[in-house]
Amino acid sequence: MKHTDIRELLNNKSLLNMEVTVCGWVRTSRDSKNMAFLEMNDGTTLMHLQIVIDKAVVTDIDEAMHLGTSLCVKGTLVPSRQGSVEVNAREIKVLGVCPAEYPLQKKRHSLEYLRSMPHIRLRTNTFNAVFRVRSVLASSIHRYFQDRNYIYINTPLLTGSDCEGAGEVFKVTAIGYSDKYKSEEEYYANDFFGQKAGLSVSGQLEGEVAAMAMGKIYTFGPSFRAEISNTPRHVAEFWHIEPEVAFAELPDIIEIAEEMIKYIISDWLEKCPDELKFFDEHFEKGLLNKLNSLIENEFAVCDYTEAIRLLKDSKKEFAYPCDWGCDLQTEHERYITEEVFNKPVFITNYPKQIKSFYMKQNPDGKTVAATDLLVPGVGEIIGGSEREADYDKLVEAMRKRKMNLEEYSDYLDLRKFGSVPHGGFGLGFERMIMYVTGMSNIRDVILYPRTVDNIR
Ligand code: 4AD
Ligand code: MG
Repeated sequence: MKHTDIRELLNNKSLLNMEVTVCGWVRTSRDSKNMAFLEMNDGTTLMHLQIVIDKAVVTDIDEAMHLGTSLCVKGTLVPSRQGSVEVNAREIKVLGVCPAEYPLQKKRHSLEYLRSMPHIRLRTNTFNAVFRVRSVLASSIHRYFQDRNYIYINTPLLTGSDCEGAGEVFKVTAIGYSDKYKSEEEYYANDFFGQKAGLSVSGQLEGEVAAMAMGKIYTFGPSFRAEISNTPRHVAEFWHIEPEVAFAELPDIIEIAEEMIKYIISDWLEKCPDELKFFDEHFEKGLLNKLNSLIENEFAVCDYTEAIRLLKDSKKEFAYPCDWGCDLQTEHERYITEEVFNKPVFITNYPKQIKSFYMKQNPDGKTVAATDLLVPGVGEIIGGSEREADYDKLVEAMRKRKMNLEEYSDYLDLRKFGSVPHGGFGLGFERMIMYVTGMSNIRDVILYPRTVDNIR
C-alpha cells in the first residue's frame, strides 16, 4: 500500500499542500454537525496526525470514528492552527473495524492494567515511546562498538556450561524426565545433547574465545536467568550487551563502560526529544536534567572496602547487615549511588568469595578486579571485570568452587595459548532503558516479560 509515514508528514515541509495517503489507527475522534476530527497514529512517531473531515465531502464516517479502527486516508496536507499540519480528508477507507470492547477507550490506564494485555499496550503513547527508545538505543550501541573496531559476535544460547558457575540455569531437554531412567546421568545421556544442557546466562565465556582472536568484540543478544527474583528489575529473559577486550585491565574496562553509557545517552538526547519530554513529564520529573548532567560529569569510582566503610559510617538502619565480605543488597547500593554520590558509581575490587571464578585475583589475596556500575533509581546496570589470565590461578579458583575442569577445557586453553590481560562487562539492556526513561518496572520495557509464573 503506497502511503507516507506520519513522522514524514509532520516533518517534511515539502509535502505541504500535496495530496497524501496516510494509514494508521484512530486515537481520538470528535464529531460535530458538519465537521468531524480524528487523531491518527501509525507508530512512526509519538505525535498524532489530525484528520479533518468535512461531512459534505466524506459521508458515512460512523465506523471510522471508533477508537482503534485502522484507516487509510487520502487528502491534502495543510498547515493547522496549532502550528503543525493536518490532513483535509477526501476519502477514508476503513481497513479494520474496531468494536466498543476495544480496551483502550480511556485516555490513561495504569501500567499494571496494561501489563495484562501485552499485545494491545503497544498502542499507547507510553509503549510507543518505550519501544522507539529501545530501537534507537540498540542502534547507538551497535554504532558505538562498530565505530571503534569491535567485532559483533553471536554467541550460542544453548550451552553445556554455566558461565557464572552458579546454579540458576534453565534446563533444556528434548525428552522430559521419566522414571524409565535409573539416574539423572542416564537421563541426560539419553537426551538430545547426550549431556546436561541449558540456556546461556551470559555470552562471556564464548566472547572471551572471540576476543582472544579478534581483540575487541561485543555481543548483543538474550541471556536467561532462572533465579526466583520477583523484583521490578529482574526478568528471566533479558537482552545483554557484552563487550570483551584483549590487552585491557580493569581501569580500561571502566573507561569503556563510562564512555559507552555517555555515548548512548547523548544519542538518545539528540534523536528522541519528543519521547524524552514525554518521559520527563509523565514518569520522572527532571529526567532531562539528570541525563544532561550525567554526560557532563565523571562517574564516581569507589572501592568495595570504601563502600562498606561509607555504609557503616552512615549510621543508617539497614534491613541487611553490611560487613566486609557481604554482597551489597539493593538498599546498600541505593544508599551509595543515591545518597552518597547521587550519580553513577563504579564499585570495584569486591571480595573474591562473592564473585565469579573467572575474575582476576588481586595481589591482596582477598579481592578480585571486578566492577559493578550502580545508578540512582535502578541499581546495578553493569557487571564486569578483568579476567584471570593466569592458568594456575584460574584452575585454583575453579577447584575451590568444585567446578568440573573438563567442561571448561576450551576456556582454560585460552590461558595456555598466548594468554593476555583482558576483560569486559555485561550491560542489561532493559535496565539501561529503565534508567534513561524513568520507567520503574522492567516488565514495562520489554515486549513480553518473562517472570516467575508468567510466560504469556
Ligand atoms: O552481573 P551479571 O550477572 O554479569 C555477567 O553476566 C557477566 N558475565 C558479564 C560480563 O562480564 N560479560 O549480569 C550483567 C548485567 C547486570 O548488571 C544486569 O544489568 C543484567 O546483566 N542482568 C539482568 N537484567 C534483567 N534481569 C535479570 N535477571 C538480570 N540479570 C542480570
Ligand atoms: Mg552482577
